[in-house]
Amino acid sequence: MDPADQLKQLQEQATEELAALADAEALEQWRVRYLGMKGAVKAALGRLKEIPADRRREYGRSANELKGALSAAHRQRKAELAAATPARQVLDMTLPGTRPRIGHRHILTQTIEEITEIFARMGFSVAYGPEVEDERHNFEALNIPPAHPARDPLDNFYITPSVMLRSQTSTVQIRVMESQPPPIRVVSPGRVYRPDTVDATHSFMFHQLEGLYVDEGVSMADLKSDIDQFCKAYFGTEVATRFRPSFFPFTEPSAEVDMLFHYPDGSTAWIELGGCGMVDPNVLAAVGYDSEKYTGWAFGLGIDRMVMRKYNIPDIRLLFENDVRFLHQF
Ligand code: DAH
Repeated sequence: MDPADQLKQLQEQATEELAALADAEALEQWRVRYLGMKGAVKAALGRLKEIPADRRREYGRSANELKGALSAAHRQRKAELAAATPARQVLDMTLPGTRPRIGHRHILTQTIEEITEIFARMGFSVAYGPEVEDERHNFEALNIPPAHPARDPLDNFYITPSVMLRSQTSTVQIRVMESQPPPIRVVSPGRVYRPDTVDATHSFMFHQLEGLYVDEGVSMADLKSDIDQFCKAYFGTEVATRFRPSFFPFTEPSAEVDMLFHYPDGSTAWIELGGCGMVDPNVLAAVGYDSEKYTGWAFGLGIDRMVMRKYNIPDIRLLFENDVRFLHQF
């Protein structure tokens, strides 16, 4: 065959094959076959010396043009394949999907919402107070004198001599009464802080629910029935409550409230829920209320304790360590 025709045939064949190949691997094999060190184009150029002298110049130009044309065609095909390949991967409908991880509210948050909802049905609104407090709201107005052991710096997180992290939600009683006249029916959930050594039942931070009801003619009977109704609404109608005499500076008389809890195995136990009592006249006087006209009850219950009991959680630290393997159960 005429050497010039040979070059033409080589180009046709190479171009045809190039258009038909489907992936990067076949393309590379094609490149080696035609443009490689031992490829067809190299061989064609090598035949230059066999060509008669009068046609050598023209043959050389054609062979070089062939090399340039095939190189350009290779580059273009490579770009086409690269553009096509990722699109096919993105659209692979057979791959398993990535399940989105949907979060939810912490069990303590859910519980606080449930508890405040129960009290809302009993006519109580919700109030919140600051976690950084002054001594007036944490102690003085609550009838806790300067020498009282509860004010010991070792038992509180003081920030300055008169500013501290609140050690009880009773502070919110004062803040609510300072901001409005009676009647008052309010509950206040929130974090409190005490430098306790952390163990299964203690934490330097925990949650309390404060309750306050002040009006004309409020009595201890209201306190007992309101707490009993709440416990039955939250834990179940089978629970019973009992009140043991106690002492708190801000209530007189004062009581500890226990609940007869029924375990799933049928056994029962009295569980301490918190403190309560009739608001001390000194507290009413501290916020400018007429303690001859108004009376009230107050309570402070441990929320973490209630959650641990209701959901059978053995260690308070589980509530605060943010281990999703634990939290996702609720
Ligand atoms: N503040 C008390 C505490 O943290 C709990 C408490 C007791 C709150 C009696 C009250 C109450 O409102 O009347 O230990």
